[in-house]
Amino acid sequence: MEGVERFGDPWEHIRLLSDAGRNEALLKMLATRAPGARVLEVGCGTGLWSCTAAALGAKEVWAVEPTAISEVARELIAANGLTDRVHLLESTVEELEPRPVDLAFSELLNADPFYEGVVEAMESAATWLVPGGQLAPSRLKVYAQLVRSSDSAKEVRDARRAIAGVGERFGLEVGPLLSGLADPGPYRYVTGGERLASEPVLLWDIALGTGEEPDEEVVREITSIDPGPIGGVVIWFEADLGGGITMRNPPGSTTHWGQHVNAWPAEIGAGAGASVKVRAIIEDDSVSISPA
Ligand SMILES: C[S@@+](CC[C@H](N)C(=O)[O-])C[C@H]1O[C@@H](n2cnc3c(N)ncnc32)[C@H](O)[C@@H]1O
Repeated sequence: MEGVERFGDPWEHIRLLSDAGRNEALLKMLATRAPGARVLEVGCGTGLWSCTAAALGAKEVWAVEPTAISEVARELIAANGLTDRVHLLESTVEELEPRPVDLAFSELLNADPFYEGVVEAMESAATWLVPGGQLAPSRLKVYAQLVRSSDSAKEVRDARRAIAGVGERFGLEVGPLLSGLADPGPYRYVTGGERLASEPVLLWDIALGTGEEPDEEVVREITSIDPGPIGGVVIWFEADLGGGITMRNPPGSTTHWGQHVNAWPAEIGAGAGASVKVRAIIEDDSVSISPA
């Protein structure tokens, strides 16, 4: 259970439940698949979707949640008289003995799609499925797009300017600080809007629950659509819930996830049609992308 406690923050659950598009996708998937099914929800959070699955006619629901938010789920299940059909298991899915289910679903996504261990968790979830059972999401695609630097590298430039300014004002030698921060590696932050400088390029396409592990390192050439500086890369995901239903956060969409930007400390100039080589690495459940 180590490390998952952070996902129990009630504010996180308020944020994700405020996302109408995300909720609608999960609801549509449940409306077609939950009736009459035995269901596993990996990470039920507040328990809303596990109770909804039961309300839609699921025969039995295993609601798995390792963090303190499970207290809310427990009360919700009880308040709806569902304790005989919705079983709350306070654990990670990896620690549990599988029970037979027809549908195993989750929403373990973040702006950095690997942050919440979706690949590993859905691997365990798949072991609960009876033959012909369905996993949702069953596929995770992760895309990268070049972004203009004006927005993304601004903080790095502003910080350097501020440090130099303080140095000048108080007669401090700030050289060691500036060189200490000269190459901080890719800086990752979540944004709602960046100026894009390329079409999307697929980094990973993972069939979840099949034992397929994403390559830890991929290198891609991405073509700049117009001339100008390139300040980093934005990543976004598309998770396939089946039946044409997806959860996705492409740039320009309004989701609670936003998009993850890897801003580079120094911009790269690129002409229209020039290709920029990038290296994407998954390390400690997070993606970083640097110029290759
Ligand atoms: C993004 S929230 C989604 C909550 C709920 N399914 C919803 O859609 O409203 C993900 C939940 O999964 C839980 N979680 C994370 N890793 C897990 C794991 N390995 N096994 C079970 N639950 C996990 C977190 O504690 C968190 O409550």
